[in-house]
Amino acid sequence: MKAIQYMLVAALALMLFGGTAPSSAFAAGDPDEDAPLAALGKVPDPPDNVMTKEKIELGKLLFFDPRIGGDASISCADCHDPKNGWADPGEVSRGYPGTIHWRNSQSIINSAYLSKLFWAGSSKSLEAQAKSAASGGVAGNGEFDVMEARLALIPEYRKRFRKVFGDEWPLLFNVWRAIAAFERTLVDTNTPYDQFMRGNKNALNAQQKAGFEIFKGKGNCVECHNGPMLTDEKYYNLGVPRHEAWADDGLKQITFRFEIYAKGANEEMYRTVKDDPGMYFRTKEEKDKGKFRTAPLRYTKYTAPYMHNGAFFTLEEVVDFYNAGGGKNEFDKNKTDIIKPLNLSDKEKADLTAFLEALSGKEISMKPPELPKYATLK
Ligand code: HEC
Ligand code: HEC
Repeated sequence: MKAIQYMLVAALALMLFGGTAPSSAFAAGDPDEDAPLAALGKVPDPPDNVMTKEKIELGKLLFFDPRIGGDASISCADCHDPKNGWADPGEVSRGYPGTIHWRNSQSIINSAYLSKLFWAGSSKSLEAQAKSAASGGVAGNGEFDVMEARLALIPEYRKRFRKVFGDEWPLLFNVWRAIAAFERTLVDTNTPYDQFMRGNKNALNAQQKAGFEIFKGKGNCVECHNGPMLTDEKYYNLGVPRHEAWADDGLKQITFRFEIYAKGANEEMYRTVKDDPGMYFRTKEEKDKGKFRTAPLRYTKYTAPYMHNGAFFTLEEVVDFYNAGGGKNEFDKNKTDIIKPLNLSDKEKADLTAFLEALSGKEISMKPPELPKYATLK
């Protein structure tokens, strides 16, 4: 009898708690639990690619050098221009000569803090990302052996690669590492918001404070935009609408078709799809169509237009979009039910926009460095 009673209790516990004790379900360190809002801490410095002054300087040269690319005309900095928030100002980015990119260029300010890169999170590190950017068909379009041969004929690079990495000849593997080290210096950690979160109660003005309350309360932005980077790094379909310019631009549609095909969608999708399937490309699951990574909100004062397809030109327009409960696209059967009309007044919308602006510090400007020249081998 005792044994049967025990089994019943155990079975009941299993039904109720799925086999885990109730107290552990929300314990600290739970991967599903969102990180609290906080000031931005120190930048990650991975042990297998530690930052040194010489490596950062080399990475800066390479970031601005168009010879890391196909026809030596387009560098990382051309699409991540310091003067445009370290991004491209178009609704979708410029592309490799002869193409237009299919997505909005992201800023690289603070991307060192993200665990997955790109709008749909397809790259795992800055090192891996740099390699795919330099070689991708509508970005750098560089051929690996050609890029490496170019570096070998630039004495200044030979000298620097030897000093930083011990390379006899510059290795592309180390190009990506140097660029990543440079990117890890591009951070914005002292915004009015950071100062406020570190305890300076005067760092936000009254309007920004009111906006912060809406962000956490009535606006429910914090449900997805949380942690020090203001992103949960999860994926949602908000119903971001198609950009109106898309319909009239052959070049944009060519890249769009190319990407759909290259990423392995079926023939039917290749012919008919008009909105970006986003996360679907990584999982090939119907439910992931139209989902994108919750965008980090830092430095956005300088990075208009917004969203993966540049659908909105101002932060005001973004706030209007959320206030209306999001929008519509062809995958909106997957639209998240977290997004609902907010009924914000004009004052509340202005307050929220003012708060968003407090997530950016001073503009980070940088002059392009003078690039080292070729010299033939004697
Ligand atoms: C032709 C324009 C273009 C060039 C050249 C280019 N990028 Fe990008 N970059 C983009 C676009 C567009 C995206 C977003 C693409 C996506 O999500 O599919 C992006 C995304 C990124 C991201 C991800 C940021 C985030 O928030 O996830 C990083 C980092 C980055 N680029 C670095 C580089 C580096 C380093 C180079 C040079 C090796 C480079 N890019 C060259 C246009 C470009
Ligand atoms: C359900 C999760 C979710 C909620 C809630 C949410 N966002 Fe977002 N946010 C996202 C995602 C996902 C994106 C990227 C969408 C895309 O490009 O398709 C985004 C993008 C943005 C961008 C554009 C950033 C850029 O660099 O382009 C801004 C600004 C923004 N959100 C502000 C807000 C504000 C303000 C609120 C509250 C009113 C809010 N978000 C609520 C998930 C969310």
